[in-house]
Amino acid sequence: MALLDGKLLAAELRAELAPRVAAFVQAHGRKPGLDVVLVGEDPASVVYTRNKEKAAQDLGMRSTLHRLPKAATQAEVLARIESLNSDDAVDGILVQLPLPEGLDPTPIVEAVRVDKDVDGFHPVNVGLLSLGRNALVACTPQGCMRLLRGLDVRGKHTVVIGRSNIVGKPMAQLLLAADATVTVAHSKTRGLPELCQTADILVAAIGRPEFVRGSWIKPGAIVLDVGINRVDGEGGKSRLVGDVAFAEAEAIASYISPVPGGVGPMTIACLLANTLQAAESRLVNR
Ligand code: GUN
Repeated sequence: MALLDGKLLAAELRAELAPRVAAFVQAHGRKPGLDVVLVGEDPASVVYTRNKEKAAQDLGMRSTLHRLPKAATQAEVLARIESLNSDDAVDGILVQLPLPEGLDPTPIVEAVRVDKDVDGFHPVNVGLLSLGRNALVACTPQGCMRLLRGLDVRGKHTVVIGRSNIVGKPMAQLLLAADATVTVAHSKTRGLPELCQTADILVAAIGRPEFVRGSWIKPGAIVLDVGINRVDGEGGKSRLVGDVAFAEAEAIASYISPVPGGVGPMTIACLLANTLQAAESRLVNR
C-alpha cells in the first residue's frame, strides 16, 4: 500500500503557484486577493476560514476575512457580497458554509460573481463543469483529482459515496471527464458494501467516522477518504478520523489517502489555485 500524500502534493502545488503570484504582482501592481465571508461563530468554520486566510497570505496573496455576526440578515450578507463583487482588488470570494439557521444559502451562493466564485458553487460554474467546459471547480473534488494524477482512471469503476453539491456531484463530473466509469452511492443505496467491493477507485465523502470497513474494499483498490470527523480519543483528547477505517483499509488498498494529511491540504491548495486562476483570467477577459 502507498499513501496518497496530500501534504506533499499540496506543497508541490503551492510551489507551482508561487511564481505565478509573483508574476501577477509584477504585472498588475497588486496581490491577487481572496475574500472570505464567515457568518456566525461555528467553531470548525472559524478554524477553516483562518486556515484559508493564512494559506493565501503565506503564498503572497492578499486575504481578508469578513466576519459577520450570527444575527446578520440575508440582506446584510448579500450587501457584503455585492461590495466584494464590485471591488476590483477582489479576485476570489468564498462564503463559508454552513450558514447560520435563518439564512437561505441558495441566493447567497448565487450572488457571488461567477468569475470570482472560487468555491465553484455558483450554478453557472456547476453547469460549465458538467458540460466539460472551462470553469472554476469546487476545491475538494479538484484536490481529489490531483491526488489521482499519474494513476490510470480511464475505464475504471469508481464508486463515489456521497452526493453533496460540494463533493460527491462535482467529483462524479470530474471522474467522468477523466473517462472513469462512475457510480454515485448515498445513504439510501442498497447493498453498499457489495457495491463498494466492485470499485477500482473508492471515494468516501459521507461524513461518518470510519463508516467504510476494510471488508468493503476490493483488493488493490485506490481509496480517497474525504471525511474529516472529530471523535473522542485517548485521555479525553479528540482525534481526527476519516470516513474509512484506515487501519483495516490500508492492508487491502493499493493507494489510500490518510486523514489528516490527505484530501484536506489539497482542498486549501486548490482554493489558492482557483483564486489565482480567477485573478489571471478576469483581467485577461476584461
Ligand atoms: N464548508 C465545508 N466545505 C466547504 C467549502 O469547500 N467551501 C465553503 N465555502 N464552505 C465549506
